[in-house]
Amino acid sequence: MKRYMIAFFLIMPVLCILCGCRNGGYAGNEPVKNRNIRIGISVNDVYDTFIVELCESMNARAREIEKETGDILLVDIVSAGGSQLAQNDQVNGFIDKGYDVVCVNLVDRTDATVIIDKARSADIPVVFFNREPVAEDLERWDKLFYVGANAEQSGLLQAEIVIDALSDSDRFRQVDRNDDGVIQFVILEGEIGHQDALIRTQISIEAIQQAGIPIERIGDEIANWNRDQAESKMASLIDEHPKEIEMVISNNDEMAIGALEAVKHRGEDQPLVVGVDGISDALELVQMKKMEGTVYNDAIGQAEKIIRLSYELATSGNPASVTGSAGSRSVYVDYRRIDYVNVQDFIRMQ
Ligand code: BGC
Repeated sequence: MKRYMIAFFLIMPVLCILCGCRNGGYAGNEPVKNRNIRIGISVNDVYDTFIVELCESMNARAREIEKETGDILLVDIVSAGGSQLAQNDQVNGFIDKGYDVVCVNLVDRTDATVIIDKARSADIPVVFFNREPVAEDLERWDKLFYVGANAEQSGLLQAEIVIDALSDSDRFRQVDRNDDGVIQFVILEGEIGHQDALIRTQISIEAIQQAGIPIERIGDEIANWNRDQAESKMASLIDEHPKEIEMVISNNDEMAIGALEAVKHRGEDQPLVVGVDGISDALELVQMKKMEGTVYNDAIGQAEKIIRLSYELATSGNPASVTGSAGSRSVYVDYRRIDYVNVQDFIRMQ
């Protein structure tokens, strides 16, 4: 956990409130401009690089909408510290204080009932993001929304990077260090029960196999999206299979980087490594050819949808302009492939 991440979450709510006060005030009976719009956001945890990037982007987007519209967006971001009970309390707090919209990165995506019931009885819309509630929950009220990305697409793009690399016979021979014609690999998985972990794992492996690339899974570990956990899990995998791991498929970049750290410390040869997210450390590693590639999880695009949708809901505007159609309440932002050839484009975007 980087210090700036903790500082971000401690300071940001205060800053947001100050920003809101700076311009505050209703414009009489015609609140066309200078409306105070209050958006309460609760995230699962701040020990997560991707979620921190998403929060930074949501704040940036809110400031842009303020400039565009003349309204004031008070964005209050809190962390639930990995506790669903704490998150329920935080959301209750937002609702009791009369926030216009609540955005929730669920701790337990199968346990949204308390939040939904409370929001519904107060008639306050909820935008869930990143951790997708189960379909039956989302169906329970027409003011429940979801913004995220299609996990299947990320698994397919990750597979595509591997397939393209290993379809080249020279690259295959380089990766297949024991020269047995099969690529021995391990997989590092995110949290149990997270849609992105389950689906990325299943889809990426299936797609590589279906493309006819000979692979053999020799180990898997759950490292909860976390770099340090991945480093120690990878170290154990290396101890079990010294000099055997030729490829690492990781559900995200943080864990891919943890795996590379373990490889370095154990003095192993470099395996082919792929991740997901496109965080800046990973982009550097792709550029240095230490990672084969990654899949861009568009935090900026998702933040834009979350804040724009919240704004439309709070101002009785047009949520369909964000969701695509009146009947739709889920928004999926496209993933994009990143490899050595196009990594510069993503580095420039930062
Ligand atoms: C990202 C992970 C992140 C997780 C948080 C996933 O979509 O790829 O990096 O830790 O969301 O819920």
